[in-house]
Amino acid sequence: MIPHINESKDDFEEDLTFAQDKYRNVKWYDRILLNKTFRVTLSLLLIAVACPLLIYHFIFFPSFNHPPSDGYSTGSCLAPRQSRLPCGVEAVPPELCHPQCCYDHQSHMCFHRFPSRFSYLVPTEWSEGMLLQPRVPTVPYRLQRSLTNLKLSIDEVSSSHLSLTFHHSDDDISGRRITEKKYDYTVLKHELSIVVNGPNGIIFNTARGPLIASNNIWEISFRLTNSSNYMYGLGEIPLKGGTTKMIYSHRGGLSSIPLIFAQSNNSYHGFLIEAMAPTEILIRPDNQMVIRSITNWGLKFHLFVGPTPADIMRDVKGMLGFKNNLEYWMLGAHVCSEGTSENPLTELQTFITTSNTQRLPFDSHCGAAPVVFKTDCDPDLVTLINQGATQLKNSNKKYIPHVSPYIKYTERITEEPEEVTNEPETRASERCFDDDLYEKYIIRSSNSSHIYQGEVGGNKVIYPNYENVSEEFMKSLWIYNTNFDGVILENNWPLDESKKDFVDIHDHLPYFNEDFEAAFKFTPKWNATRHIVIDDDQTLSFNAEELPEKYLYTHNEFGNQFASAFEKIKGPTETFSTSQWMNVNVVVNRQNIRTSWTNLNRELIEASLGGISGHWYWSTPVCGDTDNFDSESQIRLCAKWYMAATYMPMIKIHSKDVARDPLAFTGTDRAQMISALTKRMSLLPYFYTVLQEGPLIRPMFYQFPNAEPLRHLSTQFAVGDDLVIVPNLQPSQSHVHLWMPPGTWFDFWGGLKIDGIEGQAVTMTTTEADFLTFMRAGSIIIMQKNTQLTAELTRLQSEYTVIIALDCENSTVAEVFEETTTTEDPTTSDPDLGDEVNKKRTIFLSNTNTADERDKSKKVAEESDGATPKCYARGKLYMSENMTIQFKSTETELTISALGDDFGVICDPHGQIWSSTLRHVSIYGLSDDQNNYDDDRKVDTLINLCSLMNAKEIVFKFVN
Ligand SMILES: *[C@@H]1O[C@H](CO)[C@@H](O)[C@H](O)[C@H]1NC(C)=O
Ligand SMILES: *[C@@H]1O[C@H](CO)[C@@H](O)[C@H](O)[C@H]1NC(C)=O
Ligand SMILES: *[C@@H]1O[C@H](CO)[C@@H](O)[C@H](O)[C@H]1NC(C)=O
Ligand SMILES: *[C@@H]1O[C@H](CO)[C@@H](O)[C@H](O)[C@H]1NC(C)=O
Repeated sequence: MIPHINESKDDFEEDLTFAQDKYRNVKWYDRILLNKTFRVTLSLLLIAVACPLLIYHFIFFPSFNHPPSDGYSTGSCLAPRQSRLPCGVEAVPPELCHPQCCYDHQSHMCFHRFPSRFSYLVPTEWSEGMLLQPRVPTVPYRLQRSLTNLKLSIDEVSSSHLSLTFHHSDDDISGRRITEKKYDYTVLKHELSIVVNGPNGIIFNTARGPLIASNNIWEISFRLTNSSNYMYGLGEIPLKGGTTKMIYSHRGGLSSIPLIFAQSNNSYHGFLIEAMAPTEILIRPDNQMVIRSITNWGLKFHLFVGPTPADIMRDVKGMLGFKNNLEYWMLGAHVCSEGTSENPLTELQTFITTSNTQRLPFDSHCGAAPVVFKTDCDPDLVTLINQGATQLKNSNKKYIPHVSPYIKYTERITEEPEEVTNEPETRASERCFDDDLYEKYIIRSSNSSHIYQGEVGGNKVIYPNYENVSEEFMKSLWIYNTNFDGVILENNWPLDESKKDFVDIHDHLPYFNEDFEAAFKFTPKWNATRHIVIDDDQTLSFNAEELPEKYLYTHNEFGNQFASAFEKIKGPTETFSTSQWMNVNVVVNRQNIRTSWTNLNRELIEASLGGISGHWYWSTPVCGDTDNFDSESQIRLCAKWYMAATYMPMIKIHSKDVARDPLAFTGTDRAQMISALTKRMSLLPYFYTVLQEGPLIRPMFYQFPNAEPLRHLSTQFAVGDDLVIVPNLQPSQSHVHLWMPPGTWFDFWGGLKIDGIEGQAVTMTTTEADFLTFMRAGSIIIMQKNTQLTAELTRLQSEYTVIIALDCENSTVAEVFEETTTTEDPTTSDPDLGDEVNKKRTIFLSNTNTADERDKSKKVAEESDGATPKCYARGKLYMSENMTIQFKSTETELTISALGDDFGVICDPHGQIWSSTLRHVSIYGLSDDQNNYDDDRKVDTLINLCSLMNAKEIVFKFVN
């Protein structure tokens, strides 16, 4: 028996007695209270009662264990319940509570003193590389020994980005120092405590909470903001107290990087947890945070000072090396069906044909079946998959296979006679992937004596360790044709459904709970091992003393490693991946989403938070992607999900046993779903433009950081700068609230101006067929309404419709308008494009066709040059790196100009990818007498954008 346990038990018995006495006293005084002869005593006794009661309020039962005799803080157990930090596992019997912690006999909680005694000692003024020693020799986790010789490294990455690393001394990490920075920090001497100040106050404070480091458990606690402020992130808007999140890629785990936006007053700062090992994040009720990680390496965090969420995103993107690799077709719908059909090729062909006749637009498909690697040969499957790819190519659709990382494993027939029952020769020759040859690349069991076997769908599978696999290795896995346009890597956290039992896991891991269990359940066994393969020649050695690394420490990297290994097959390709780690350059593929109203809201929240964390490319499954979908009771939900998917950055329609593509429905339901996909297609020019500069779907706190009443909202979202959506998130909803964002807003599809002041909730009626969308006054959105069956064809063939939402209420209109006048220098243009004089010309057009009126309008336009416009709006259409069309408008005319000279994309008959024709203009915000429809003015015209090759601008007068 561990000696201290008895000792501490005694202490707690004392506590208990104390508590009981107190209770007895109260009763006794109550009796006295009625006796008038004891008045003098009464007042004294009242105090005596009041004091314990007050203290009782805080419920403190200090353990009488003395602090280490080092003269540092003693710490107090007097802390309100709200702000107590769990000391080890919180809910334990008193004898399991570490003697240096406090114990609350009422709630049976073990908690830290304040300041915590579990700290590290900083001998003198802190500096990089200084060795820190634990103050208490054991930790509250199974009384393991505290690690000695810790180091704290502070890296000043940029003027707005700081990183903190707590690590074990073996690693040589050294932080940079810069002179110009927007933060400063203090590392307290003696008992380690760190405070980081941003431009607007404290942004990180360990607040003398615990720092614990021991074998397989590191813990730190800190505060990012005060309890009255909000935090956002980890899939939550807001991130409330009492939430626990897990960083460990698994089914249902986080998809985005673990970035938290903390707000304090009107400024925001960011906190990113860079944890490769399984890590638990606890948000305490008063916004204190506790991080516990099963690591032996340490903890690393990044702090971003902001002050706006957009500033934080910019720094995060910079740090993670975001690259813009958006292809236009990626914005179109991606379809996949994993049906149990007898003949998938026929089914695929039928789907393609019917979608053409039903005008169902989609861009890519996963083909005949998802790809699963196998050790055994299956020539029929290879043919099937190749033919599926060919069919799609022939129908002008992209082929995007779905690929899982594991290899379906069939036992080799051994040479031993008793097992050789029938023709071993033939069966051996059926092996296509030689797992013996590639053994060093395969994840091994916990004692590394044999290859680790998991299970998926009832089949045995093995897992390559994709780190540093060779090209041959990948080519021996990918035996299909390489005619793919991109790839979706699924189940790559990676999935393992084999039964695991966690009964004796406490013998191995000092800290483990249900959250870890949930994370470990559908992933390969936590203590499987992998060898670090440096190069192809390295041989395996099974030296018992030097066991290879446990797989869980680097588990989170698996998805990234699979993604980069896959590039060995055909070179870089558009990669969608279910699992990523600190990687904003793969498209996040949301997977395993059950169909429910709650999950529809969740998908919007996750996509918006993902976007502002740097994952601008984010794909969500419309209507979920699991087997639970009920195609009868959930039709309305599914239709609404299609409408929400109109505004998602990327979408996937993934059917399993029950189909959920629009063709699986009939009548109005099907019509509404196809109409939603068509609307999405018509908005792609706007989405593409937005995605060049920022995320598509955004939370309110990001878009309007200073609009306090909107901050906490998770029911309305911004789509780019110019749209706001207010989805119905409940069945048969007849009303939704639009919380008015700053500025003036119009109904996007009709042009009705919404009355309401900023922060006010405006009740709007809605129907099952509606999906409320609002457009910001002052903006111009370019659409292609006459859509085709793929995104690329629509971009090339559909005429543009320009939607102008005029802002007539902003007094700074005139200045703004002047500032945005094109500053393009036309002198560098190609001589073929016309002479310099012509280039400066302005083309005047109006919505009247007689020459007379055109002259008149030209005159008016010239005259109006000097006049100050009352209203304005502007927008742009990004076409290519060197070609953006700019639009600005007043209450009378629209001016179009080109920024850049890559006219090939609209005018070159061979290289053209964009349409050059502008056909319709709708104007919102004109006076009623100028509207020719209920709430807007619609004007048809014919403008050829190629005229901009020879002219500085095109002016179109839409009001006479
Ligand atoms: C919390 O509020 C107190 C008092 O308003 C302030 O002194 C402290 O700096 C704040 N802490 C943080 C982390 O914002
Ligand atoms: C791996 O973990 C399991 C429990 O999850 C345990 O039974 C087994 O002994 C461990 N193996 C090794 C080599 O530690
Ligand atoms: C007016 O427009 C300018 C420029 O777009 C903007 O910064 C300002 O906030 C607007 N003012 C109001 C009251 O909307
Ligand atoms: C855009 O213009 C720049 C500079 O003129 C040039 O270097 C670049 O290659 C152009 N990009 C494309 C896609 O044409």
